[in-house]
Amino acid sequence: MTKVITYGTYDLLHYGHVRLLERAKALGDYLIVGVTAEDFDRSRGKINVSQSLMERIEAVRATGIADEIIVEEYEGQKIDDIRRYDVDIFTVGSDWVGKFDYLNEYCKVVYLDRTEGISSTQQRNEKCAIKLGLVGESNVVNKFAREAEYVNGIELSGVCAQDDKFLSEQVKNLDRVTQDYKELLEKTDAVYIISHPSKHYEQIKLALENGKHVLCESPVALEKQQCRELYALAKEKKLILCDALKTAYSMAYFRLLLQAKTGCIGKIICVEATCTSLSEKIEENEQEFDFSWNSFCSWAPTAMLPVFHLLGTNYKKRNIVTKLLNEEKHYDLFTKIDFVYDDAVASIKVGKGVKSEGELIISGTKGYIYVPAPWWKTDYYEIRYENAENNTRHFYQLDGEGIRYELVTFVKAIESGNIKSNMYMDEEISLAISKLVEEFENDIDITKI
Ligand code: CTP
Repeated sequence: MTKVITYGTYDLLHYGHVRLLERAKALGDYLIVGVTAEDFDRSRGKINVSQSLMERIEAVRATGIADEIIVEEYEGQKIDDIRRYDVDIFTVGSDWVGKFDYLNEYCKVVYLDRTEGISSTQQRNEKCAIKLGLVGESNVVNKFAREAEYVNGIELSGVCAQDDKFLSEQVKNLDRVTQDYKELLEKTDAVYIISHPSKHYEQIKLALENGKHVLCESPVALEKQQCRELYALAKEKKLILCDALKTAYSMAYFRLLLQAKTGCIGKIICVEATCTSLSEKIEENEQEFDFSWNSFCSWAPTAMLPVFHLLGTNYKKRNIVTKLLNEEKHYDLFTKIDFVYDDAVASIKVGKGVKSEGELIISGTKGYIYVPAPWWKTDYYEIRYENAENNTRHFYQLDGEGIRYELVTFVKAIESGNIKSNMYMDEEISLAISKLVEEFENDIDITKI
């Protein structure tokens, strides 16, 4: 009996896949199909897959062509499978020519002609092309423009910026830069906002009132009540409003949260997060302050993320100590917040005028999780114990600082119409962030040094 094996993602199964499977089967008597798992796809940069592994397996099964279906989960598994299943022929489409020649050592390798004119990528793009407008004066706009190219189903519709000196040549060359926010809204389905935080509320409100989905850098609003009002408006209009904190979408960060919640370090007693970035632009220049975010708005939402994710938002007490550079503009060089919970504590340090080690430490009764600097762009963490022999190290590929995954999640939430499909960020955390921003901006119970 000649055994044949082939692999693929088989997202939104199309006739190109079916033709490939038919010809693969015809090469022998028994066909094994390896369907790629989400994590493995993501680690090899395939981030847009729209169907779950089970849906894709079911679609392959429904063709009736495969004799056996297996899941591909790791790099190098093909070698293992060929040996384990005693495979005679490995085959894939001609888009992979040469890539799998190394398998000739284990079995015969056959590349079959790829069917022209169809692909999962094309199907995903046709399914929904969300026109995304970018708003704000920051080089993060440039990063978003770059990262959007990796995401199926997004088309950049333009950029709204009051000052284009922050924009890259790539973005300026889009030739769709405007200063008129309403003009941008007219040609978009969704906006990503990174304008000065003082503008967020008005801009989000206008977008939602005009039926546009919103992804906004944290803080969503400078007052808790405004934040609540915006989420309520989004719900009423059946639109997606999402707090954009890219760290939340990093696989390593998300996995460490899950792991911490399993109790691997015992009961969590303390969370400490530091985020600093020394800014050269901090000077007493009125114009700079119009665009520049203070340390609190720039970093506190990110630093609070692991605190709220792990300990919740119901802290009993909080103490904010800040060092201001400019009283009137409320521009802080450095701020430290201590939280006291019923049975845990947390501490965050943020600064644009002070430099420190950007690490995250989660201490528990059995051990601790350590994430080295810069933890907010993390692809790596360690779980450490008294007995170092039990320590474990964890690595998850992070592409595009998390922005890419953030956009994929945003698109999926829009497609499904379900904000709950975004398990990385929720309204409660946005509200807790806005509450603290409000207290900070209004000098409520703040100690100044
Ligand atoms: N395939 C094919 N003809 C096509 C599309 C895919 O023969 N038009 C083959 C691929 O060469 C591969 C298998 O089908 O052997 C599974 O491919 P997969 O990567 O899942 O599908 P694509 O449509 O290429 O997906 P994407 O656009 O996401 O890369």
